[in-house]
Amino acid sequence: MLSQDELKTQVGQAALQYVVPGEIVGVGTGSTVNKFIEALASMKTQIKGAVSSSEASTARLKALGIPVFDANEVDELSVYIDGADEIDNQGCMIKGGGAALTREKIVAAQSRRFVCIADESKLVSVLGKFPLPVEVIPMSTRRVMRQFAAMGGAVTLRLRDGKPLVTDNGQHILDVTGLQIRDALAFESQVNQWPGVVTVGVFAHQRAQVCLLGTAQGVKTLNF
Ligand code: A5P
Repeated sequence: MLSQDELKTQVGQAALQYVVPGEIVGVGTGSTVNKFIEALASMKTQIKGAVSSSEASTARLKALGIPVFDANEVDELSVYIDGADEIDNQGCMIKGGGAALTREKIVAAQSRRFVCIADESKLVSVLGKFPLPVEVIPMSTRRVMRQFAAMGGAVTLRLRDGKPLVTDNGQHILDVTGLQIRDALAFESQVNQWPGVVTVGVFAHQRAQVCLLGTAQGVKTLNF
């Protein structure tokens, strides 16, 4: 029986087949992506470099000698590789467990194809069991909390060392439980319009086209 860590390693390596030689690859954030970054080092002479979705991934890429480009230096990426906290059977996801959701959505939006890498525990029929991360501008926190409460959600402000966590963009994160997100596209559009919301961690407009799912029987490829 493979451990979760081994499943992550498997999908991280499997994602290399989607990296296009000679190009710049979009790189996400998280423990599964860290396995991909380790694997990517074996291809570093074949690619131009990466656009990264967080300071943490940037540091890892650079430490392995992979050049990191600013998102503004690149028009379009052929592929973005990232993990997810939940993924449904249409490729819609909850992301942001690592607080990098805004930059993840930006890089996903400039990529033609999103390849999600995840272990099988992340596959769900309805999004919402995993606490939904929402990046907010601090002065809007109370108001956004009330709006989620009115929808039936229970909201907490994410803390680190007893203080509100500050994202790479200088903002805060709310985590929302108790929601069942059946129409992910409509939900994402609705919440993104609330003043003060920087990004909601539902990725439906930027959903995955492919999911490499680590299972006990090996890597399964889901095409959406
Ligand atoms: C980071 O903000 C997230 O969106 C990650 O992609 C997600 O939390 C998956 O992380 P793991 O691969 O660590 O489970």
